[in-house]
Order: sequence, then C-alpha cells, then structure tokens
Amino acid sequence: MDTVIRKISQDITQQEYEYIKEAGEIIRAGGLVAFPTETVYGLGGNALDKNASARIYAAKGRPSDNPLIVHISDMDMLDELAKDIPEQAYALATLFWPGPLTIVLKKKDIIPDETTGGLDTVAIRMPDNDIALSFIKEAKVPIAAPSANLSGRPSTTTALHVWDDLSGRIDMILDGGAVDIGVESTIVDLTDEEPVILRPGYVNEDMLKQVCDTVLRDQTLDDMTRTDIKPKAPGMKYRHYAPTGELVIVSGDAHKTVEKINELARQHDESVTAVVTTEENKDLYNYGKVICIGTRKDPLSISHSLYDVLRQMDDYGMKYIYMEAFYDNVLGDAIMNRLKKASGGHIIYV
Ligand code: TXA
Ligand code: MG
Repeated sequence: MDTVIRKISQDITQQEYEYIKEAGEIIRAGGLVAFPTETVYGLGGNALDKNASARIYAAKGRPSDNPLIVHISDMDMLDELAKDIPEQAYALATLFWPGPLTIVLKKKDIIPDETTGGLDTVAIRMPDNDIALSFIKEAKVPIAAPSANLSGRPSTTTALHVWDDLSGRIDMILDGGAVDIGVESTIVDLTDEEPVILRPGYVNEDMLKQVCDTVLRDQTLDDMTRTDIKPKAPGMKYRHYAPTGELVIVSGDAHKTVEKINELARQHDESVTAVVTTEENKDLYNYGKVICIGTRKDPLSISHSLYDVLRQMDDYGMKYIYMEAFYDNVLGDAIMNRLKKASGGHIIYV
C-alpha cells in the first residue's frame, strides 16, 4: 500500500481542507489515517467499524486485548457512545475538552468489542488540535486512535516519525508538524465510585481536583514491581516507548546524578553510549554522545522532545543510554511514568 502524506498548516487553507475531507472519506471507506493531536500523533480508523479496528491492531502490531481511545469532535458524540455518564464526566469535559484528558465510561453497544479490546467500557477524548477536530468532523464518525507508532516503540510526535514506523501500512498521514505536549493524554476512569488515574499526563492530579474531591491512582503506577495486580488500562502492562538500546534513568541529587552518569557511561565504548541531559547540566558531561532534551525551567520543552530523543537513540545506534530523571510539579508524573516504562523500570537512585 502506498501511504500518502498531506501537509496541513494550523490555519488550514481551503486546499488543505480538501485533503482533510479526503482523509474523512478514507475513514468512511474503512481505511486508516494518521493525524496530529496536541499530545502525540494518532492512528485513526472508524471506531464503529470492527474491521477498521482490526486493521489498526494489524498496522501497529498491537495485541488486540489493548483497547483503543475513541476521539470525538463535539459533546453530542459523547452521549452517543457512552451510557450512565456521571455528572463528573460532564464537569471534567467542560473544563478540559478539547484537551489532553481521556475519560473511561460505560460503553454503548454501538461501539464494537473489537474497538475496546472486549471491555464493556470505552475511553473517550476530544483532542485540542484543529486539524484533528476537522478530520473527525469530516469523517462523520468517531475515530478510534492509538498512538501512531509500531507497538512497543516510542510514540510519534512528528509526521516523519509516523512515516518511519507505518509507511506502507496505512493510507494517509496528515502532517500537521510537531505536536505541542509530546506525551499521551491523562486517562481517568469514572466507572467506579471514585475517579482513578490510569495513566498520568498533562492534566495532572491537582488539575483534576478542581472538579473531583478525591482522585485515586491505579496501584500499578507507583509500584511497577507488582505482578499480582493488573493495571486497569490494559496497555500499561506492556513495555513501552522503549529504544532498542539499554536505557537507565538516574535519579536524585543533581551533583551525584552527574557523577553517577559519567561513571556509568565510561564503562562502555564511547561511540555507542549516550547521555540525555538538560540545558542546566549539559556542560558537565564529557563522555559519549551528550544530548540536551530541553530546559528544566520549562517542563513542556522536555515532554515535547522526549520521544524524539528516544527515537534518535535508535537512529544513532546507541546501545547504552543514561538519562537524568525529571521531576517537577506539572509534568513530572507523566514524564517519569514514560521513562519508567521505556527503561523497563531500570532506575538508579543516588
Ligand atoms: O494522547 C493520547 O491519548 C493518544 C492520542 C492519539 O490521542 N492516544 C493514545 O492511545 O495514547 P494508546 O492506544 O497509545 O493508549 C491508550 C491507552 C492504553 O493504555 C489502553 O489500554 C488504555 O488507553 N485504554 C483504552 N481504552 C480503555 C478502557 N476502556 N479502559 C481502560 N483503559 C483503556
Ligand atoms: Mg501508545
């Protein structure tokens, strides 16, 4: 299959809108289109068509028990897809949609089991990106979309990343440039008594508390060593976002972190060893390929580049990758969650 790329600017010219309509037609005909959102690129298909969902799993090489997020462009679609919707869901949607928040609700029968990996719940979100919203509107159906990467690889934050992973496997890529946030949406489950965060993202616990009195966290988020409990988001059980080389995260006092990373890096051949750091520390490393991911003053600069940097590690053939931990009040939870997954839980505390 030939994969067509259509460049779309954020203002969306008339000609570009025609391409978006073309993408909508592909969806209605059962095809697959990758599209930008504010978090990462999505790999879209018709959420109401079980064959389209099957094609998404096949294109990604993803296990079919891992449900897809359903993307909508207006609030009416929410009531068509979910039932027994609690007031809290409307309150969260009003505050955060369009935006990087996914809400898990009880599903209506209109959504095939293939889309939700056999679950009786559905994860729904309205993305904050005009290209994505126009695309969903023109498709005239809700769009099931996982992140547009091959299963296990880092998510995609540019059209080029999507091309690298999925060209020849999907019909079209809408190229809207680099995404803003760079890590996937927060997932909150509202099907129990209390809201539960299943995956941390840009909308953090404090922000959710503007609407919810209590917010719980899926137990497996804070203790990856627990094998006796399953994460409630099936996708969270897989190793994820991972570069091919060995990734180790070093966490703790800034000075000791630099010392430890320099020591660890020196144990390997310099040509296949990388250090991932920030503006603040970049001059303190003197061995291996030193990559600056952003500045600690702006957590978004780090989340924005995270997957690009992890992908570069593969492009450069790096076998040993040492990376500083990133904690901050806003995005620290989301970034560290991805780094824990990408490193297979390999964190050294200094
Ligand atoms: O930012 C995002 O959410 C991106 C963009 C494209 O919207 N999408 C994304 O999709 O990250 P994906 O498929 O890579 O991750 C979806 C996660 C998986 O961990 C999956 O198990 C979980 O959401 N999930 C989906 N439906 C669920 C449900 N009904 N109950 C619990 N978890 C669910
Ligand atoms: Mg994903």
